[in-house]
Amino acid sequence: MKIVITGGLGYIGAHICTVLNQKGYKVILVDNLSNSFIKMYHQLIALLGEESIVFEKKDITQSDEIKELFQKHSDINGVIHLAALKSVNQSITQPLSYYQNNVGGLITLLSEIKSKNIPFIFSSSCTVYGQADQLPIKETSPFKSSFSPYGYTKQIGELIIKDIVKSNDSFKAMCLRYFNPIGAHPSAMIGEWPIGEPQNLVPLMTQVGIGKRKELKIFGDTYNTPDGTCIRDYIHVMDLAEAHVLGLEYLFSSNSNHYIYNVGLGKGVSVKEMIHRFEKIIEKPIRQKVSKIREGDVPVAYADASKIKTQLSWQPKYSIDDALLSAWKWEKQLHSHNDFQVS
Ligand code: NAD
Ligand code: WQD
Repeated sequence: MKIVITGGLGYIGAHICTVLNQKGYKVILVDNLSNSFIKMYHQLIALLGEESIVFEKKDITQSDEIKELFQKHSDINGVIHLAALKSVNQSITQPLSYYQNNVGGLITLLSEIKSKNIPFIFSSSCTVYGQADQLPIKETSPFKSSFSPYGYTKQIGELIIKDIVKSNDSFKAMCLRYFNPIGAHPSAMIGEWPIGEPQNLVPLMTQVGIGKRKELKIFGDTYNTPDGTCIRDYIHVMDLAEAHVLGLEYLFSSNSNHYIYNVGLGKGVSVKEMIHRFEKIIEKPIRQKVSKIREGDVPVAYADASKIKTQLSWQPKYSIDDALLSAWKWEKQLHSHNDFQVS
């Protein structure tokens, strides 16, 4: 069976590719390389072999390119749609680019595949919940007004999908609301590799660990949490990848046509605890400084992941320490290869 992953050379897409490959799927990676390197494709081939992975450089906002893709590959069995811009801050200064890319791209893609009734998975985010009123956060928790256009693109994406499945019983779609994906493939051959400066806690922390960055800023320690720092639900990217494959297989055999699942470990961990765990793993201290809070950060977010566990039999295999160790191995790999220092 052939599966398209849009955004397939990005952080999460590349990891999903490894799980699909392991289960015998052929994978078509679609990416415009706006936030990834072609080297990621070479890494995937080195890891998995080239027989069953194809790369198509396409922009999902361009309908002619997307039409061409589905003409060339007329036998696609599923689409996992990850291609999006993902910087919360950049979306505030460049809202139109975000709406155009994330919402426009989704519409272009759906216009092409809806009539073909290809099962579809959409990368959503815990950001749709904002600061939820109840913890852990269930899928029934309402959308809150978003701090950023990025957050709205995920809410709007989900609403578009909801309307489309309502209008067409034969089109099956699933929205996966990721909490905080971290870590890297156990081989350390692929991992989080953004163009430019990372913005998330773990890649920043590993960069401080390796010496690329002087210190880690803790964004506020006066929140109403046990140690004053924000609490998040960090999940190993390989467990997240597995959730996509289970989700897709569920869609293949399901009777209903619309599903929404949280994907998180269901454990809240503070920023200070993450740093502490990481220091133990790398056996050295991380230079850190408490700085002012980052606007838009919600104090606490962690998932109720019981729905995906029950319905899709998804069971996370990795702990947060496993994820931190894998992120560290990946950082060391990046550091040791000159040809990885592309940015
Ligand atoms: P990423 O930036 O590493 O990967 C996204 C990929 O999409 C990149 O390779 C980029 O080049 C590509 N892309 C962007 N616009 C495109 C376009 N118009 N046409 C073709 N390719 C395009 O990001 P990621 O962390 O792998 O995230 C994947 C998805 O998961 C995104 O939709 C993101 O919003 C969502 N998500 C990510 C997180 C997270 O913390 N990483 C959390 C929740 C949701
Ligand atoms: C985690 C915690 C920070 C960096 C973001 C997006 C969200 C989703 C996941 C896509 C927070 C703290 C961070 C630093 C710090 N993405 N932190 N110093 O903010 O939970 O979520 O990624 O959908 O939409 O907003 O993740 O990794 O940026 O931060 O103290 O240098 O680490 O305040 O509490 P976040 P993150």
